Amino acid sequence: MNPLKHVAIIMDGNGRWGLKNKGSRNAGHKAGLKTVEKIIKETIKNKIKFLTLYAFSTENWKRPKREINFLFNLLENFLVSQIDDLHKQNIKLKIIGIKKFSRKLNALLNSSEKKTLKNTKLQINLALNYGSKTELLDAFILLRKNKDSINEKNLVKYLHTKNIPDPDFLIRTGNTKRLSNFLLWQLAYSEIFFEKKLWPEFNEKDYNRIIKNYKKIKRNFGNI
Ligand code: IPE
Ligand code: IPE
Ligand code: MG
Repeated sequence: MNPLKHVAIIMDGNGRWGLKNKGSRNAGHKAGLKTVEKIIKETIKNKIKFLTLYAFSTENWKRPKREINFLFNLLENFLVSQIDDLHKQNIKLKIIGIKKFSRKLNALLNSSEKKTLKNTKLQINLALNYGSKTELLDAFILLRKNKDSINEKNLVKYLHTKNIPDPDFLIRTGNTKRLSNFLLWQLAYSEIFFEKKLWPEFNEKDYNRIIKNYKKIKRNFGNI
């Protein structure tokens, strides 16, 4: 059985679910948050130590302002109401991506990270304004600036995922088979599960089925 430390998820399909079931994309984002809560619980039950969630990409700024504002309001309300509870559950929150939001949200993200910094049960990496290409380019710039020699060990020190093991597997919901600029380096050897269901429809049963399947895969890492 494969060990399992880190699950990464591209939570896709909120907009389509919302339009189809509630008449608005934003209603889909709201419903998607419920799935996030379910999946956090299930991750703890499965004793998984790292969960990385793609919540907003560097490309998502192309969306209408109304949708972007709704998303960040949702995040703000979630953090204000849930951070104490996450902290009590011994969950550590880390933001990956570039924290360039409203002053209020930046402060809230920083204080949430600080509050939960020493927690050990589960680390949630929330990818916000995250893009893998920018992350890699910034890492190369830092390598050059610090006159480090260019090798894997030095490069990973400058990634946002420093000190985090690479994901064992990636789930992408929403019936789309692409990476959308997510963890291009870190996913080099991860197993990938593309799910037809839209994120608000995804549930504990689907998650546990994937975990079970992942554990049985023969992972070669180039070997035989
Ligand atoms: C993913 O759902 C969530 C974010 C990008 C914030 P989408 O909003 O991309 O939903 P679809 O893919 O348009 O249905
Ligand atoms: C990827 O979903 C980003 C997140 C889930 C946050 P998108 O819906 O933005 O991806 P593309 O643009 O369809 O590839
Ligand atoms: Mg999408």
